[in-house]
This record gives sequence, structure tokens and C-alpha cells, in this order.
Amino acid sequence: MDYQVIIPAAGSGKRMGAGYNKLFLKLDKRPIILHTLDVFGSDQHCNKIILVIQQDEKDIFTELLLKSRYASKIEIVYGGDERQYSVYNGLNSALNSGIILVHDGARPFIRLKTIGRLVEVAAESGAAIAAVPVKDTIKKAIDLEVVETVERSSLWQVQTPQAFRFSVLMDAHNMASKEDFFGTDEASLVERTGQSVKIVESDYDNIKLTTPEDIYFAEAIMAKRKR
Ligand code: C5P
Repeated sequence: MDYQVIIPAAGSGKRMGAGYNKLFLKLDKRPIILHTLDVFGSDQHCNKIILVIQQDEKDIFTELLLKSRYASKIEIVYGGDERQYSVYNGLNSALNSGIILVHDGARPFIRLKTIGRLVEVAAESGAAIAAVPVKDTIKKAIDLEVVETVERSSLWQVQTPQAFRFSVLMDAHNMASKEDFFGTDEASLVERTGQSVKIVESDYDNIKLTTPEDIYFAEAIMAKRKR
């Protein structure tokens, strides 16, 4: 089944500390964002990629896209100060039907099989997110004092892509905007509408490159995949 994807890439990457957008950092001699775009570009079921960028990085992205084999599928849209605004701007440029995915530009290791399963489940039930079971023991603490050990068996660590029927995601964004609600992912907006959200088990190596040590992990994942 065909789908479109919004790729937010308009962050500043402060926690990476590179001094510029972390998506321009290179993995295997190619900027991170091109690796992410390659996955969706190479998927015959992906018919449109909406790449959300900062307006003042337009020239850099335009130049980068010259190196992408999939540039014809990519539409550039300008983002906002928060990731949620960036996704909303992307949503307003999307075709208003079918299945829409949101995937962070900073997750270059997503597998096509996970994308395919997310699209299927979202088509069946409205909303599906990639996640992996939590491996560590999780505790809640206040002022460095433990107040609770959270039961781990029902905990999932959530990733992107997150996949939705177009109207499900649009309604959720409209409601969040009306109620001034901010979430750290799309599903948290969708959950508030009463829509059920299904989990598709993903891979632990679908990491988001956030802090400097993630680059070491990413290089190791890249080397393993090339073998
Ligand atoms: O900062 P973090 O890694 O959590 O951001 C996730 C994704 O959202 C990144 O790909 C980043 O470029 C994007 N983003 C955005 N607009 C913002 C903030 C983040 O598109 N205002």
C-alpha cells in the first residue's frame, strides 16, 4: 500500500553540540539526512517525501538534494520553532488522504520491513507506532530520590516512524493546537482524541542520533550493515 512521509529536519541539534544541524554530520561519508532520505526514496510504496527544514538552511539542503537519487520525490517545506509545528507545516503540504508517516530525519537506520508493517497496521486501525520493549529497569524519582519502580513488562521505548490515516493525524494536530497541547511525538496527540494506537515491534538499532556518543553507535551499526 502506498503512503507519504513527513521528515522533520528543522531542528538545531543542540544536544549533539556540533554547532550546526546534526543532520549534516557524515556517516560513511554521507550526511545523515541523505541516509534517511535514501530509505524512503528507495521504497516503491513511498510516493511523496515532505522534508521539513529551517528556512535559512534552504541553500544547504538544495545543494545536498542534488546528491540524492530521489530528489524528484522530495518536497521542501519550512519548519517551526518546535518539532510539533514542523510536522504540522509538513501535514499542510501533504495529500489529504491515505496513510501518512512521520519519521525523524535523525533516524537513518529504519528498515523497510518495519515501514511496511506500520503502513498495514495504520490502514487497518488508524494509528501505529514503531517501538521496542524497554530493557532497563525504570524508576520514577523526585529530587534524586526513588518514589516508584515502574512495572517493566508493559513499557515500550517509542521511535519513529509513526503512521496514521491522514484524517487521524490532522484531527489530532488541530485538537492539540486548539488546546495548546505539546507532545514529544505524534501519537501522544492522537491518543488524546480517543483513537487507539497500535505498536509495531521495531529494532533496537533504529536509534535517533541525539548526543555525541550516538555517532559512535551509528558508525558501528553502519559498519555491521555493510558487512
Ligand atoms: O531534537 P530531536 O532529535 O528530538 O528532533 C527530532 C527531529 O525533529 C530531528 O530530525 C529534527 O531535525 C526535527 N525537528 C524539527 N523542527 C524542530 C525541532 C526538531 O523538524 N523545531
